[in-house]
Amino acid sequence: MANNTDNTTHFGYKDVPTEEKQAMVADVFHSVAAKYDVMNDLMSFGVHRLWKRFTIDMSGVRPGNKVLDLAGGTGDLTKKFSKIVGPSGKVVLADINSSMLEVGRERLTNEGYVGNIEYVQANAQYLPFEDNTFDIITIAFGLRNVTDKDEALRSMFRVLKPGGRLLVLEFSQTKNPLLKKAYDLYSFTALPFMGKLVTNDSESYKYLAESIRMHPDQETLKGMMQDAGFNRVTYHNMTGGMVALHRGIKV
Ligand SMILES: C[S@@+](CC[C@H](N)C(=O)[O-])C[C@H]1O[C@@H](n2cnc3c(N)ncnc32)[C@H](O)[C@@H]1O
Repeated sequence: MANNTDNTTHFGYKDVPTEEKQAMVADVFHSVAAKYDVMNDLMSFGVHRLWKRFTIDMSGVRPGNKVLDLAGGTGDLTKKFSKIVGPSGKVVLADINSSMLEVGRERLTNEGYVGNIEYVQANAQYLPFEDNTFDIITIAFGLRNVTDKDEALRSMFRVLKPGGRLLVLEFSQTKNPLLKKAYDLYSFTALPFMGKLVTNDSESYKYLAESIRMHPDQETLKGMMQDAGFNRVTYHNMTGGMVALHRGIKV
């Protein structure tokens, strides 16, 4: 899933040299970081909050847990986890992108979320943590941006404790033809237009729409998680399958 056979990979609909994708994704998130939260609410009509709420509920997080919010960006999930794990627990917000991390850190600190949160700049493919460290790992709308998704899943498996859970929240494939048509129209016209208006950057939002279409569908991602070692892998479709939450356990 990482690479095409000729050492290229997808960047949206483009085939690019594998080693260049990471820098191209970095440009997207450096560009959108400052307006990321506003755009998230605008683009999803606020529904991303419900998808994230469901992710927290399905994580089974408890006070004292150690959580990794991978590709955590501006920290929506970290914020919720921080409240639940409490002072005896810990949340690590890890992201590859310094601009996203900085916006997240500033936002959470200003809102008073301090004490049990750590910020780490890291690539999901090479997590800088010891084996068996976390009770829960989440990666929300992050995996599709990762160059080698299989390697990232193996890295997550390694740092999860036995009995720990991985939750992957990501755009996925809807089977409803009407919904698909409306979604295509919306994402290839309205999204870049809104991106241009709010961030003066329509290209990043064009990438967003394309990267969603190129992301593995529900069953493929389930198989990838199983191949990485996860057990009892299940998924829940939301909003007609436009978004799916996959969950796997490290036995
Ligand atoms: C669409 S944002 C999602 C942010 C947040 N999880 C949310 O749901 O609002 C995707 C994030 O993935 C991060 N990212 C992309 N590639 C990554 C990688 N290889 N390792 C870690 N983070 C990555 C980006 O920097 C960005 O912050």
